[in-house]
Amino acid sequence: MALNNNDSAKESILDDVYASTDLSSRMPKYRFPEVERNPRHVYQAVHDELMLDGNSRQNLATFCSTWIEPEVHQLMDECIDKNMIDKDEYPQTAEVEARCVHMLADLWHAPDAKGTLGCSTTGSSEAAMLGGMAMKWRWRGKMRAKGKATDKPNMICGPVQICWHKFARYWDVELREIPMEGNRLIMTPEEVIKRCDENTIGVVPTLGVTFTCQYEPVEAVADALDTLQKNTDFDIPIHVDGASGAFLAPFVDPDLLWDFRVPRVKSINASGHKFGLAPLGVGWVVWRERNDLPDDLIFRVNYLGGNMATFALNFSRPGGQVVAQYYNFLRLGKEGYRKIHQACYHTAAYMADEIRKMGLFNVIYDGRGGIPALCWSLKDGINPGFTLYDLADRLRSRGWQVPAYSMPANREDLVIQRILVRHGVSRDLGDLLLGDLRRSVDYFEKNPVSTPLTEETAGGYKH
Ligand SMILES: Cc1ncc(COP(=O)(O)O)c(C=O)c1O
Repeated sequence: MALNNNDSAKESILDDVYASTDLSSRMPKYRFPEVERNPRHVYQAVHDELMLDGNSRQNLATFCSTWIEPEVHQLMDECIDKNMIDKDEYPQTAEVEARCVHMLADLWHAPDAKGTLGCSTTGSSEAAMLGGMAMKWRWRGKMRAKGKATDKPNMICGPVQICWHKFARYWDVELREIPMEGNRLIMTPEEVIKRCDENTIGVVPTLGVTFTCQYEPVEAVADALDTLQKNTDFDIPIHVDGASGAFLAPFVDPDLLWDFRVPRVKSINASGHKFGLAPLGVGWVVWRERNDLPDDLIFRVNYLGGNMATFALNFSRPGGQVVAQYYNFLRLGKEGYRKIHQACYHTAAYMADEIRKMGLFNVIYDGRGGIPALCWSLKDGINPGFTLYDLADRLRSRGWQVPAYSMPANREDLVIQRILVRHGVSRDLGDLLLGDLRRSVDYFEKNPVSTPLTEETAGGYKH
């Protein structure tokens, strides 16, 4: 029922949105709506509901872009109707994607950056699937050529992001994930070599491990695999999961050998929407040389006009993110990326030092030598009257999202808290967070928690 006597046409034009009939009753939640509604009213209802999401800029759990230049907003708007797959219809978008692939191949030192293959994806997860599939196909081809069985492929990695668990399960590959041990929270060459055999399709070091943000030692692992090859005939390739690091190391740590300068590195994935600084929805995978991507993984379709090669899990996909990525490459260049990331590293190291000074925390990673981030645990043997889950909960009351979580096997006992310092997390914002962190600790000192939160009882934001 209308709240006033205007007829409905007049009402929808003149009434304040909150005085409208639409907003005077509940919007449908779980049943498909029967009737149409005024777009202005519906927009306001949806917009208002989204206020209950956390503020993305204070989400220090995510690796993904939360600050986007106005020009990128504009390009995204202009590309909202572009389907990445329609390469014949939108040849310039396709050209822009190809240019990005070759720019990345160049950035990552592919021997023939103009001639190699790669593609955009929805993120690193899809890129990891494609890189993993290529490894499996190459291994299977080699084994078949030798007349050997191909039913027991395995892959070796350190503590990986869940996308590699998915890859292993979806594509029937045994995942030999190196467990953490004591203070060793990443892979080492020795641990890798122990697990290699002729059924190893590849080794996947992560440049920026999700749990602690440390880099795994790509060059040292490659050297160990070279020695292994001399002693056996196992020629085991490396795929680098550079979800974060592949957009950091080239700018900030150019002498670190982790990319195609290491001959054993056959493919690399990266998230454009993390330190590539593009908006959400773009990842990349690039192969060292054309031959490293088996031809029978590439499909050719003629129903879009032309004869198009495609290698991806999805068909339709938005084109704007790829265009925005290209904009970033032109806009920033190596110089711009370096400045942005360097500022983040300085802030991460500063925050880590400040947190260390508080005396309660053991800083596990201090923003030096990996991703611009920091993580810490509570010092052993102290009882400060709260858990890191309590601290995360308390910080949440000021809008900060600083996750606490336990480590994977074999350090499930270790609970840490982590902050990602991304584009837009300025020194000033960092100081504001540190102030709230100190106030929270003071609060707990005066009001010790009687029932501390645990992994099971924390995370009360789910419905
Ligand atoms: C190391 C690593 N690999 C893969 C992924 C998955 O990336 P995406 O979210 O782009 O699919 C992440 C995400 O955080 C990651 O940190």
